[in-house]
Amino acid sequence: MTTPTTSTGERLPVRTDADVVRVRQLVRTLAQQARLSLVDQTKLVTAASELARNTLVYGGGGEAEVELVRDGARTGVRALFADEGPGIPDLDLALTDGWTSGGGLGLGLSGSRRLVQHFTIDTAAGAGTRVEIATWTR
Ligand SMILES: Nc1ncnc2c1ncn2[C@@H]1O[C@H](COP(=O)(O)OP(=O)(O)OP(=O)(O)O)[C@@H](O)[C@H]1O
Ligand SMILES: [Mg+2]
Repeated sequence: MTTPTTSTGERLPVRTDADVVRVRQLVRTLAQQARLSLVDQTKLVTAASELARNTLVYGGGGEAEVELVRDGARTGVRALFADEGPGIPDLDLALTDGWTSGGGLGLGLSGSRRLVQHFTIDTAAGAGTRVEIATWTR
């Protein structure tokens, strides 16, 4: 395994609905550049959109870092969503289908996890939330 090297990356604020749209567009563009299949592009964009919305709604805003990554012959897109909000006190619960602390459907986190190849969350009560996702060419 070689270490993935970044070729193109961008950091975007996630503070408004318009920012969420921009993140979504950037992920779509990089997913196309990475030559992900149309299905994988759509899955990744959907996951990124859900995570950006969580950053905005529950994290009180934060930022997204999206980059095209390479590992030998494979290319992929990695996206990080980070906020310094209240964090998630019970991650297992938050990842349960249908569980929401607000008025959502409770499918954003659990659904996102299923839509991408790599999904990690780093969070704790009072310590903010960082979610990293990535999908590679197959
Ligand atoms: N960045 C975050 N900071 C703090 N809590 C979060 C964050 N992201 C998710 N959560 C918590 O995890 C719960 C589950 O998130 P998830 O996205 O699955 O559902 P939802 O946003 O409530 O509904 P939806 O299906 O509309 O996305 C949220 O209700 C919220 O309590
Ligand atoms: Mg959500």
